Order: sequence, then C-alpha cells, then structure tokens
Amino acid sequence: MECRKELLPADSCKPKPTDESKLGFGQIFCDHMFLMDYEKGKDWHDPRIVPYGPLALSPAALVLHYGQEVFEGLKAYRGVDGGIYMFRPQANLERMNRSNKRLCIPELPVQETLEHLFELVKTEHEWVPTLEGTSLYIRPTVIATEACLGVKVSSKYLYFVIMGPVGAYYPEGFNPVRIYVEENYVRASVGGVGEAKTMGNYAASLLAAEEAHAKGFTQVLWLDACDRKSIEEVGTMNMFFVIDGEVITSPLHGSILPGITRDSVLTMCRHWDLNVSERKLTIDEVLEAQAAGKLEEAFGTGTAAVISPVGSIHYRGTDYTVADGQTGPLSHKLYDELTGIQLGKRPDPFGWVVKVK
Ligand code: COI
Repeated sequence: MECRKELLPADSCKPKPTDESKLGFGQIFCDHMFLMDYEKGKDWHDPRIVPYGPLALSPAALVLHYGQEVFEGLKAYRGVDGGIYMFRPQANLERMNRSNKRLCIPELPVQETLEHLFELVKTEHEWVPTLEGTSLYIRPTVIATEACLGVKVSSKYLYFVIMGPVGAYYPEGFNPVRIYVEENYVRASVGGVGEAKTMGNYAASLLAAEEAHAKGFTQVLWLDACDRKSIEEVGTMNMFFVIDGEVITSPLHGSILPGITRDSVLTMCRHWDLNVSERKLTIDEVLEAQAAGKLEEAFGTGTAAVISPVGSIHYRGTDYTVADGQTGPLSHKLYDELTGIQLGKRPDPFGWVVKVK
C-alpha cells in the first residue's frame, strides 16, 4: 500500500529542542504523524503521513465510551555512526496485534505497518536527538471510531502514530527509584486485559499512583488480584529481583504486560549463563531475602523506563532498602549492554537492531 505524504513546508516546521539534556518525556511532538483507516469490508486503507494536529472524531466514537483502544511504545535511536536505528520494532507490532485480538480490533498487516513506521521515522529523521540517554519515542495507537452509543465492536478504526524526542522517563534518570507496594487497589486479574497494552489498564492505575506520589514514591508495585501477595509489575515496567544469585521475574500468566525489554533482559541474562527464573515471587519472599541480606538488587524494565534500578521498597509502613539504595552491578551491566546494542556501540548478537537510515 503506497503511503501518501502531505508534508509541511520547511519554514512551517517547529524548531527542534536546543537543549537535549532537558527533554523529559512525552511533551514535544514531531511535525508529522501517520494515519491509516479501517472500515469493515474495506480493510486497512489510505496510509498517509500528514502534519501533526488534532484528530476529527465524533463525540459518539466508541473509543470515548468503551475504551476499545490499543497502543504501543518503541524508540528510534541516533547511533554512534550518526545513523538511525530501531530496536525490535517487529516485536512491538506483533504484540500490538495480540492486544488487538483481545480488544476485538482488526489486526494490522505487520510488514506493511513496519514499512510505514520506517517511512515516518525517515521523514522526521532530524527529530532524532543525539545526546546519550535520549531517543525518538514512537507511539502507535488504534482507536475505535464508529459513532454509536451501544456497547459493541466498532466497524471503523483509526491507526495513528505520533512521535517526539525524549530523555529519561523518570525524573530520577538512571538513579534508583522508590516504589510503593500497593495492597488496596489491583491493576489487573488473570482473564482480564492486563496483558494487553490498552488504555484502561493505565486509567485503572492512576488513583493508586496519585496516592503513592503524594507519599513521595515514584511508582506503584502491583500485587496479584487474588491473594495480594505475588509480584505483578510496576505498570510502566516489568520487575526483576536478584535473590541469592537467582534473577527472578514474574511469569507471563495473563495479567502482566509481555515487555519487549523484559524479553531482551531475559535473553541477555541467559546468554551470560546467569541463573534465570520466570516464576511466581511473593512480596514476603522478597522481604525475607532482604532481611537475610540475600536481596542483591531489584530493577524495572520497559521501553520508556529502559533499566530502572529500585533503591527501596515500601510495604506496610516500612521502607526496605535494596542494594544500599544504589544501582546494582547487574542493573548497570544490563543498561550498558542494552543501550550499547541500541546505539550500535556494541555487537548485536541477537539481531535486534534495524537500521532505518
Ligand atoms: C513504554 O514503555 O513505552 C510504555 O508504553 C510505558 C508507558 C510510558 C505507559
């Protein structure tokens, strides 16, 4: 499918940020976006790159009432050779299609959608920042656009992609974050939509996050919806714990997001012959290990968060320090290896990186 382009004249494009050390996350958007429509009987059609701007949507669009939506998050990087690279973009589109299936949204043609992503990144190549720790964040999204107030599967959708230069997701950067173990609210339960990347999961997390922020914590650590004991995820990242030499993360049992960074970290740890387990881990086991001096480190993984060390865990009124509140050696090694591969500084033995330009 040919991608139509309606580009702004150069003198109407926005100035690029001058101080890349102050980028923050998700505040600045590129000049153009990608759009593609779906209609029952017409499949996906009219792929186009157009100036970034508001979407025209009926106030009765199904997405606004019943949340039939799916999104993704991936990044393009300025490599050390000045080229532009993407990290496992196909894995993101394949996950998007799994989320689409769960939300009854028609699947996207992976190969074509990938080509369109590359085309958009190439069009906006000047927006890919160069400072280490920065990247171009890419947000593909599908929304149900049919105007109808009945609860039903939409017959019309819009797929759009917006992008913008970003720095660290957390204000702490690569410094350890403080997390709050949540017992009152739950994020998702098995059989629900917790493993799909859909808006409702994030809306459901806001109240707990607000309460945790007010108490001075960066993020909420979710426990399972049944016993409120097993570690699930942090909402913007999957969690890893290193206990007595074992690198542990929760299994993909249906209520947590199957992170691409999670999968990459597991692959790297196995490649280094570490003792790696995808298994159920309770908060009690984590705190017992901490008391016994066996909790070596804890960190989160995510596209936005990259590798985010955890310096303390707050549970039932007590702060438990992890790795003396410092960044642990495995977190460091993983961060260096992952960002090294992404920026073309280190070999890419797993074939993860795609050169776009
Ligand atoms: C990502 O890691 O890309 C995400 O989508 C998480 C978040 C910013 C919601």
